[in-house]
Amino acid sequence: MRQIHIREVGPRDGLQNARQQMPTDAKKSWVKAIAAAGVPEIEVGSFVPPKLIPAMADTAEIVSFALAIRDLQVVVLAPNLRGFERALAAGAHKVTFPVSASRKHSESNVRMTPEQMVEEVRRCARHAHPGVLVEGAVSTAFGCTMQGDVPEDDVVRIAAALAESCDHVSLADTVGYANPAQIRRVFKKVKKEIGDKLRTAHLHNTRGLGLANALAAYEEGVRHFDSSMGGLGGCPFAPGASGNVITEDLVFMFESMGASTGIDLDKLMEARKLMVAALPEEPVYGHMALAGVPKGFRAAA
Ligand code: COA
Ligand code: ZN
Repeated sequence: MRQIHIREVGPRDGLQNARQQMPTDAKKSWVKAIAAAGVPEIEVGSFVPPKLIPAMADTAEIVSFALAIRDLQVVVLAPNLRGFERALAAGAHKVTFPVSASRKHSESNVRMTPEQMVEEVRRCARHAHPGVLVEGAVSTAFGCTMQGDVPEDDVVRIAAALAESCDHVSLADTVGYANPAQIRRVFKKVKKEIGDKLRTAHLHNTRGLGLANALAAYEEGVRHFDSSMGGLGGCPFAPGASGNVITEDLVFMFESMGASTGIDLDKLMEARKLMVAALPEEPVYGHMALAGVPKGFRAAA
């Protein structure tokens, strides 16, 4: 029984910020290998204007490929109704919307204020096909490189507004500003407001606190985590943003604690090799890849 649900976001959060483009065929092989390792959900791309992020231009083709993989939940990001319509046409199972709690980041990222973006998500949710899940991701929920502090009340207010139209809400530390005490406090506050609609912790490792923050969220009852293989990632419209918490290390942490992720670490390392080979110029991270699995390591039952 899987106790921790990990969503691999490398093909979206990772590749949108990479120095080079991963060829479509390599993306498909990578996605297939990630799923083969037991990862239950992959954010495979985004439906944004291809001129803005050329690396995401083949998302429809990747969605169509991923839909043929058994038991895989296929997720995409959309920034507006146009992107949501493209996601529905492609057949994605779930669509996630970046709704920044920082006005400056929101305007830079989606050219809308947080309030306008909440309204855009509401409009999209009204158009959703039955069975398609809509997720509101509160970005820069723990601080912003452009605005600095992000008031916790703003995060709670936006999360509550999103919970009215979305199936799930996630909290994202887009620029890696969060600390474990803050993670516990903000997740607790939002949970009090929206209950089980609060689902996923989307954490970045920019200041080395990714795993500590994940553990803090776990202790607050969070069981859904975003992460990216090799620690790729970052928002091109948030200065100073860098990679997500590293999937391989996150899986190791939970498995060694006895909390099952359903993911096979050896197979995950095989998938990582495909990614590294397809992005030779990209810096990649990960302690498990450097140090290896400890002698006597046993995955959680
Ligand atoms: N997919 C494809 N094309 C789109 C689109 C989408 N989701 N949304 C808009 N477009 C097209 C429009 O049709 C228009 O095309 P035209 O010039 O041929 O007429 C053009 O893009 C501009 O549209 P507009 O509505 O004015 O968008 P904008 O320039 O104000 O940009 C967003 C707004 C939301 C589309 C853009 O800021 C965006 O995609 N942001 C997301 C960035 C991102 O991915 N960040 C990282 C993830 S958090
Ligand atoms: Zn992110």
